[in-house]
Amino acid sequence: MRVRELFLYQFKNYAGNEFLFDQQIVCITGRNGSGKTNLLDAIYFLCFTKSYFVHSDAYCVMNEKAGMRIRALFETPQQQTVQCILRENGKKEFGLNGVLYTQLSKHIGHFPVVIITPDDTQLITEGSEVRRKFIDILISQLDEHYMRNLMKYNKILLQRNALLKRWPESVHKDFTVLDIYDQQLGELAAPIFMARKQYAEQLKFKTNQIYHTISDEKEDIEIAYHSQLLQHSLSELLIQNRHKDIMSQRSNYGIHKDDLLFTLHNMPLKTVASQGQRKSFLFGLKFAQYEILKENLVLSPLLLLDDIFEKLDEKRGRKLIAYIARQSTQVFITDTHKERLHKAFEHEGLNIQWIDL
Ligand SMILES: Nc1ncnc2c1ncn2[C@@H]1O[C@H](COP(=O)(O)OP(=O)(O)OP(=O)(O)O)[C@@H](O)[C@H]1O
Ligand SMILES: [Mg+2]
Repeated sequence: MRVRELFLYQFKNYAGNEFLFDQQIVCITGRNGSGKTNLLDAIYFLCFTKSYFVHSDAYCVMNEKAGMRIRALFETPQQQTVQCILRENGKKEFGLNGVLYTQLSKHIGHFPVVIITPDDTQLITEGSEVRRKFIDILISQLDEHYMRNLMKYNKILLQRNALLKRWPESVHKDFTVLDIYDQQLGELAAPIFMARKQYAEQLKFKTNQIYHTISDEKEDIEIAYHSQLLQHSLSELLIQNRHKDIMSQRSNYGIHKDDLLFTLHNMPLKTVASQGQRKSFLFGLKFAQYEILKENLVLSPLLLLDDIFEKLDEKRGRKLIAYIARQSTQVFITDTHKERLHKAFEHEGLNIQWIDL
């Protein structure tokens, strides 16, 4: 799969720009703030129906403008056009080959993508939400029901929490509605839990494989899927803990509490890993995501590599380039230093397109 053309109108810092990509490896260089990351984000947006970096589509619209439009021509090898229009009133239209989607989640997985960015350190340092997002991004590209189930689950969870908040002052305690929410949550959580458990296992295996390839580390890093559902089904947990939920006025059990635990020598990676180990692990984790997608899908995922050579020592940089060079997928790489990228690729004999912003 290749992106051949990209058109951006009022998308972040791009007022109206068109790019043509004619190589498998596209190197994008430019000074800080020149729009390198935004360009990758536009490609990500068209694959995943939203920005990787900002929660709200509104932040993708150029400052002081109303609405934006982005479009890409993909070669899969058929020519396919993906377009997103955010109208001035905020209405979002997302289409494939001129046909608009009624549900955005239906698009996910058609054009698989993996993005690696400096922000990925959050996967180690931040709370569980970031790690759930990571595994959700992986599974939703492989399983068309996953994202829809997750969205339904989150919607019912919100309604259940709202009911629990109203509980103390409501005269009529609505146990029937609570029963319905609990039944629905139980049903929706089961396949999400199974998928996360299965892919966490694959991630552990592949991450370590890549971690050892790109660094000289010998020890394995443990990745454990942590879920309350490992011991009991959510339906059981909700029945057993109803009183607790009512007292605390929120839902204490469910897949919204899941986490991925990263440990080295039985201690949290966050506390014991060196900077270098962290960096190699994060590359391992992200390239594991890429390899799992590649093995399970017909199309090979796009790789969007933002600033990956920043702070990477020469030896690891070389190993990473060698890994990238072995892939048949299209790769977009950004860097502030053109010379550094030139130097990194000079011995690989690859066809590279250079874009200087
Ligand atoms: N909605 C928006 N409207 C206008 N400009 C925006 C918007 N969102 C971001 N920008 C600006 O776009 C510019 C380019 O940002 P981007 O993150 O792509 O730069 P970059 O080339 O990746 O820089 P760096 O090398 O520092 O990572 C920044 O100046 C940023 O403030
Ligand atoms: Mg950037």
